Amino acid sequence: MARKYDIRDIKLAPKGLVRIEWADRYMPVLRLIRERFARQKPLKGVNIAACLHVTTETANLVRTLQAGGARVAVCASNPLSTQDDNAAAMVKEFGVPVFAVKGEDHKTYYRHIHQALEIGPHITMDDGADLVSTLHQECQALAEHVMAGTEETTTGVIRLRAMAAHDALLFPVIAVNDSKTKHFFDNRYGTGQSTIDGVLRATNMLMAGATVVVAGYGWCGRGVAMRAHGMGARVIVTEVDPVKAIEAAMDGFMVMPMSKAAPLGDLFITLTGNIRVLRLEHFRKMKDGAIVCNAGHFNVEIDIPALEKAASDKRALRPNVMEYQLGKKRVCLLADGRLVNLSAAEGHPAMVMDMSFANQALAAEWVVRNHDKLERRVYTVPAEIDAEIARLKLKSMGFAIDKLNPEQKKYLASWEMGT
Ligand SMILES: NC(=O)c1ccc[n+]([C@@H]2O[C@H](COP(=O)([O-])OP(=O)(O)OC[C@H]3O[C@@H](n4cnc5c(N)ncnc54)[C@H](O)[C@@H]3O)[C@@H](O)[C@H]2O)c1
Repeated sequence: MARKYDIRDIKLAPKGLVRIEWADRYMPVLRLIRERFARQKPLKGVNIAACLHVTTETANLVRTLQAGGARVAVCASNPLSTQDDNAAAMVKEFGVPVFAVKGEDHKTYYRHIHQALEIGPHITMDDGADLVSTLHQECQALAEHVMAGTEETTTGVIRLRAMAAHDALLFPVIAVNDSKTKHFFDNRYGTGQSTIDGVLRATNMLMAGATVVVAGYGWCGRGVAMRAHGMGARVIVTEVDPVKAIEAAMDGFMVMPMSKAAPLGDLFITLTGNIRVLRLEHFRKMKDGAIVCNAGHFNVEIDIPALEKAASDKRALRPNVMEYQLGKKRVCLLADGRLVNLSAAEGHPAMVMDMSFANQALAAEWVVRNHDKLERRVYTVPAEIDAEIARLKLKSMGFAIDKLNPEQKKYLASWEMGT
């Protein structure tokens, strides 16, 4: 058991352990990496401070890093995404110092980040860049020993690129999110499925025949729109990028500004990574009983302060459902506007996190081998690692594919032959 930790209740460990084992069944690529790491110890002597959603999949990533020889301290990357039973098992069964309690307040959230940083990281592992930004703003001295960081999500990569552009980044960071084997699958199929899962667990609403407004048609938005459509919903997409908007239209969805979509939707889901996408002017136009939620990284996509201020009353109707009275109408906010898939459900299925976390583990190994050659900027995971993860995943799924023969290789490398 870890000596220092801060979790809900250590007695929850047995329940967490079976859930970690269940997730592990669906993480064959990470398991292969763990077996190799146990033999080769590529992370021997490396301290890692990880600020990730404290889920069962994260537990399996941490076990993999430990098998490689690393010491890992973990805090939450979102106050509502921690699975308390899983956190207990990480402490008790795997000796991980975990600092995370589901529902922790803002102050505790940042105290936990500081506690994870006390490990003295050689590698930072972030999901949304709160750990890196805290380190840069409040304990810069730690940066001296950091070889590099890794970043899991789109919003974090955007923040880190902004830091690099302002010459504020004190060490290199690997944008794990930008691997094809990450965002093609995790953001699209993972968020697609688990966001709907979160909405259904919170509300038990019927998707068939409902009008679902998806704000943002990026990797996550595409996944959610696709899955909502598959369940019989009418999907409306709102966008600010004309190319993405054309794509949504050609995928068969209605496209319009939020001001026009607001009176039509039964359910609104924001996935833009942007601020105040749903505002008071929209809430006022919505149908009575409209449901609003967010699956983007931060809870700023829905203007909750404005909703709180304008509402004459509010009441909790079910876990994760808060109803606001706006004049004669009611608007229901799910999971305090936090990532609904992680707050009201369990986050992405392990099958998809297998690839995301294989990228994290192999990125950490690559950092140890290459950090002395890296500059203070944002890197992507090398293409060979991305391709290797794809090969292993495909094999684990029981699929095989063709290989280019010499004639095809030559043809693809030439320009002379035409019609
Ligand atoms: N819930 C999860 O588990 C999960 C998983 C992965 C990523 N994320 C987060 O989800 C968010 C989206 O990630 P992504 O990979 O899809 O990013 P993305 O960049 O691929 O897509 C975001 C889209 O939102 C659009 N957009 C921006 N402002 C908008 C506005 N005001 N109105 C409508 N559309 C707008 C952009 O044009 C873009 O197409 C990020 O915050 C990311 O960190 C969440």
